[in-house]
Amino acid sequence: MNELDLLQEADRLARAYTASIEERDAFPNEEAIATLSDLDEPLSDSGQSALSTLNVMNAVAGEATAASNGPRYFGFVLGASLPVAAAADRLALAWDQCASSSDSAPGVHALEQQAARWVLDILQLPQQSAVAFGTSATACGLSCIAAARAELLARKGWSLVENGLNGAPNIRVVVSEVTHVTVKKSLQILGFGWSNVEKAETDPQGRIIPEKLPKLDDQTILILQAGEVNTGEFDPFVPLVQMARDAGAWVHVDGAFGLWARSTPQLGHLTDGIDGADSWTTDGHKWLNTPYDSAMAICRDPQALARVMNSDAVYSNASADSQKNLTLEFSRKARGVSVWAALRTLGRDGVAKMVEKHHEQANQVAERLRALGFDVLNRVVLNQVLVRGKDDEATKRVVQTAQASGRVWFGATVWEGRPAFRISLSSFRTEERHIEELIDVLAQIGPTG
Ligand SMILES: Cc1ncc(COP(=O)(O)O)c(C=O)c1O
Repeated sequence: MNELDLLQEADRLARAYTASIEERDAFPNEEAIATLSDLDEPLSDSGQSALSTLNVMNAVAGEATAASNGPRYFGFVLGASLPVAAAADRLALAWDQCASSSDSAPGVHALEQQAARWVLDILQLPQQSAVAFGTSATACGLSCIAAARAELLARKGWSLVENGLNGAPNIRVVVSEVTHVTVKKSLQILGFGWSNVEKAETDPQGRIIPEKLPKLDDQTILILQAGEVNTGEFDPFVPLVQMARDAGAWVHVDGAFGLWARSTPQLGHLTDGIDGADSWTTDGHKWLNTPYDSAMAICRDPQALARVMNSDAVYSNASADSQKNLTLEFSRKARGVSVWAALRTLGRDGVAKMVEKHHEQANQVAERLRALGFDVLNRVVLNQVLVRGKDDEATKRVVQTAQASGRVWFGATVWEGRPAFRISLSSFRTEERHIEELIDVLAQIGPTG
């Protein structure tokens, strides 16, 4: 089969999958999972036909996909893929650009620069900030924390880039006691040592209590949250950022999904004071509903990020705002393209409407579940509903039964040491009828499981 026919076939299969997304089980059944063993074949010497490769992928792995691109998947704040973002990603794949800088890929460099301007605009963050389009909030958070450490050390006259950490002044890190596990991962990769990291006490909704914050100084990185992963809550930025400013500390905000609350006045107040921070991370692949590998590291001082992330070489010199000089990657996919496509197509109002819709749906779900006798544990300020059944065992049974139904999917969690489950409203495809289906599943199971 020639290249164009093969692409057409891939496109036909992708279209068929997308057309079926409304009806698909929210999670593959046991038979589909068992069939995955068909992928276990020896690597052939002479290769196999491209068409058969595509067909095996589609028939075996495709049948075992979680329908996270669908309307009844409420797990992990995954978000679906907006049609235009998915289509733009597909087009960019054909271009196969190495989006390191304008020298290697002028077209996509310009698209990413425009995406960066729009991101700062819609999120109302300092307009001179650097925006690095990385793979994930994890990678972008790591980059920002690395920049924070290098900058605080530079202010003490120590060049991290030149001298490394041996003999360097000590840099402290303060995080929320319910910080996301990927922040912990970044800190462990960067060598801070989890037990050295100071944990700030939180209230029952998961927000740092300013009065209980460890004392900050000018050798401290304070990491705050916009959107706690269970409750969707926000740290009180106004007092916390002020305390950090007064002490000369660096403030980083993990806003993997919650930063998008800034796109609408209805929810923007939750983020008041956040623009006083030094760096922020957010994902496109969560609440903006772009396809995967779409995240942003945003740094108020572009040079602070560029200094630690620079990867200029004799054969590859580029401007400080080149993506290879801001992200972990050297050769890279133009991850900002799907963000550009989503923002251009939705516009300010479209993003706000999507975010507001999910907030309203979350409140509706909370209200209906309370009426059914479930215990809703959070205030539902955003798009997350944190729930328990009658007791711990009942809570676990509810999750198992709902997942096994295939009609909806949401995940288990632990809140304040006890089992709970969380329902995330983050797919642009989720409409009233899908909420009804979710409620129907939970009504049939009931709070006793
Ligand atoms: C609050 C928060 N921070 C960070 C992350 C990590 O994001 P990513 O999966 O893009 O690395 C997530 C979710 O996965 C999250 O919910």
